[in-house]
Amino acid sequence: MSASLTASLYLLSSVCFIMALRGLSSPKSARIGNIYGISGMVIAVFTTLALPGVISFGMIVLGVLIGGAIGTAIALRIEMTALPQLVAAFHSLVGLSAVFVAGAAFYAPEAYGIGHAGDIKTASLVEMSIGTAIGAITFTGSIIAFGKLQGIVSGRPLVFAGQHLVNLCLGILLAAVIVWLALDESQMAFWLIVVISLLLGILIIVPIGGADMPVVVSMLNSYSGWAAAGIGFTLSNPLLIIVGALVGSSGAILSYIMCKGMNRSFISVILGGFGGEVSGSSGDKEDRIVKQGAAADAAFIMEQASTVIIVPGYGMAVAQAQHSLAEMANLLTEKGVKVRYAIHPVAGRMPGHMNVLLAEANVPYENVLELDEINHDFASTEVVFVIGANDTVNPAAKTDKSSAIYGMPVLNVEEAQTTLVVKRSMASGYAGVDNPLFFSDKTMMLFGDAKKMCEDIVKSLQGSQH
Ligand code: TAP
Repeated sequence: MSASLTASLYLLSSVCFIMALRGLSSPKSARIGNIYGISGMVIAVFTTLALPGVISFGMIVLGVLIGGAIGTAIALRIEMTALPQLVAAFHSLVGLSAVFVAGAAFYAPEAYGIGHAGDIKTASLVEMSIGTAIGAITFTGSIIAFGKLQGIVSGRPLVFAGQHLVNLCLGILLAAVIVWLALDESQMAFWLIVVISLLLGILIIVPIGGADMPVVVSMLNSYSGWAAAGIGFTLSNPLLIIVGALVGSSGAILSYIMCKGMNRSFISVILGGFGGEVSGSSGDKEDRIVKQGAAADAAFIMEQASTVIIVPGYGMAVAQAQHSLAEMANLLTEKGVKVRYAIHPVAGRMPGHMNVLLAEANVPYENVLELDEINHDFASTEVVFVIGANDTVNPAAKTDKSSAIYGMPVLNVEEAQTTLVVKRSMASGYAGVDNPLFFSDKTMMLFGDAKKMCEDIVKSLQGSQH
């Protein structure tokens, strides 16, 4: 394949990736975005395989078969709620492969056209050492993030005295060893970079608590992109540089959006010591009275209303209640009720969690509105149906300065005339704080599993049709 044809195909592939990111920015265009992404990847893989540097296909095909089989098996079995840790596990592999590629380039520079052993170009040494460092940090950092999300490692922040100083010293040492490698091409320096970075990856992530882990996963996603871009320079592969930079910057933007949605400062997440599992909540809740209702009450109240806003949260995902919820909404719509869904940016446990589930249940996109689009409408809404959401509808975030979630943007659910809340108990949400919404005179608690509750409401609505 000629160099100009390769360049053109790589350009086409890059455009597909950019279109994919653009498509993924909205649920409506996400499917087409995925198709662009797949097309870009197919073009990229086949163009790379056709490069003159590829001399045999045996190992490549074997790798694709083994990796593809493992990936397919995992993707088919994984629960939606476990996606954040799966992503963390996959990122660790991206980081590790960046280290391997850099190691291969360091020991066989001729194969990569970056000079000869003992005489590698300085620029290549700098690129490969940065790629190695980011790759190794991503590798161990992602493993710790996986462990915390999976519950193998405690989700509590692990903090010790002088932690930031240790990290700073290691960072300075790492920079010094990179300079040593660039000047001396020392093997010892290369392996020191690997060891220091592996250690830094652990130390940076252990002080970050479980609640901030999804932000960390997205941040590590960004790191893995920059590691790939660094390796792209080493391999003189423009596509890898472009794709690495796209992943790096989109991961950084996503981390920022998540921090904003959770009212955390990005710097405080990175510096660690936040977002631990806050156990329990203020003790007087047992003495306070809440209004309770049953499915039949909820069905009656909603079918009498002209407008209902549904607010889904993590509990809907746990219960996999989206299909019966959509059925409930359809029945209400048939009865002339205007039904819409309000989505908080950090509802659930990963970005777009609720949107994915509602799309799976064929909920029309135009009925699914973001916080900014719908937050003013609660005051003029008759009934709000909160299903498995807690922190994202907690009014204390607006009023209680002592609350751990004070300042976090929340849905103005309490402004509606009546609020129905489906959850199994009075337990707190992810942030571990009490929710005054549950004790409001205007709130009726519907205790039970979210899916079972929706099914029972559906039965009541169907019963009232006859
Ligand atoms: P949460 O505040 O986590 O509350 C979920 C509620 O669902 C719980 O109170 C739980 O109460 C209930 N629940 C669990 N299983 C249920 C079931 N089977 N049926 C019915 N209810 C069930 O949820 P949220 O409002 O979606 O808020 C998300 C939280 O996660 C926020 O604090 C956010 O900052 C955090 N977070 C989100 C993200 C992203 S990107 N989405 C990332 C990191 C952290 P019961 O146990 O009483 O049923």
